[in-house]
Amino acid sequence: MDKRPIGVFDSGLGGLTAVRSLRQILPEENLIYFGDTARVPYGGRSKETLLKYARQDVRFLRSFDLKAILIACGTVSTTSLDTLRQENDLPIVGVVEPTCRRAVEVTKNKKVGMIATLASVRSGAYEAALRRLDESVEVFCAPCPLFVPLVENGRFRRGDVVIETVAREYLEPLKEAGIDTLILGCTHYPLLTEVVADVMGPEVTLVSAGEESAVELKRLLQDGDLRADGAQKGAAEFYVSDRPEDFERIASVFLQEELRSGARRIDIERY
Ligand code: DGL
Repeated sequence: MDKRPIGVFDSGLGGLTAVRSLRQILPEENLIYFGDTARVPYGGRSKETLLKYARQDVRFLRSFDLKAILIACGTVSTTSLDTLRQENDLPIVGVVEPTCRRAVEVTKNKKVGMIATLASVRSGAYEAALRRLDESVEVFCAPCPLFVPLVENGRFRRGDVVIETVAREYLEPLKEAGIDTLILGCTHYPLLTEVVADVMGPEVTLVSAGEESAVELKRLLQDGDLRADGAQKGAAEFYVSDRPEDFERIASVFLQEELRSGARRIDIERY
């Protein structure tokens, strides 16, 4: 049994989709979440800048005594995972492999779409992982650079004309390509599930990066005998690098729980 917390991070709100899954499947675990809200969005930045940010995020999280880290950010997972693993002596789970494994299980016609940030699409990491798992899969990728800023501004609900227009523009070509499975390769995108599903239609299955990585983390904790005691509900602490107020509001709606001690602001440049 290991009561130490799990560290989870993202550029902002998106990683909460992984937190929600973790709270459901590992309710007894303690979580420390960091959202780099001062520097969101990450998605258009260079590999070098992303690695610098990711190292700082990990250094901040490691100021706590953690047992594992979940990179609840597609952009960091696609660009910096290997380096972070080499540099840190604790288990680190990214979102790419688990999500692709699920997509390959789900697809029937072997046409898989993948939407993510520019940096993730540029990295080719999802495509490479899908091909490793099943050579016969045809992959259709589309960057959706406006999705993250819109989600961070609360524009993610069905009926919002701005997000619905942007979604149609990004997603129509994937629909025309005849995909039957769509990877939401950025952890912000599950907040857009209804909007995306409305465009893609019921015949396309959505596979969410955050959820699949939470399942992978559960497996890893079990195999390493690192699970916390099942009797008590774990606590979750939230840290951000800019104004906590907006984050708290959307986070509590999204997680369907009050953030007990709110979100605390830290200076990420110190790490
Ligand atoms: N949630 C991050 C991801 O999964 C968003 C990146 C961004 O900030 O642009 O890629």
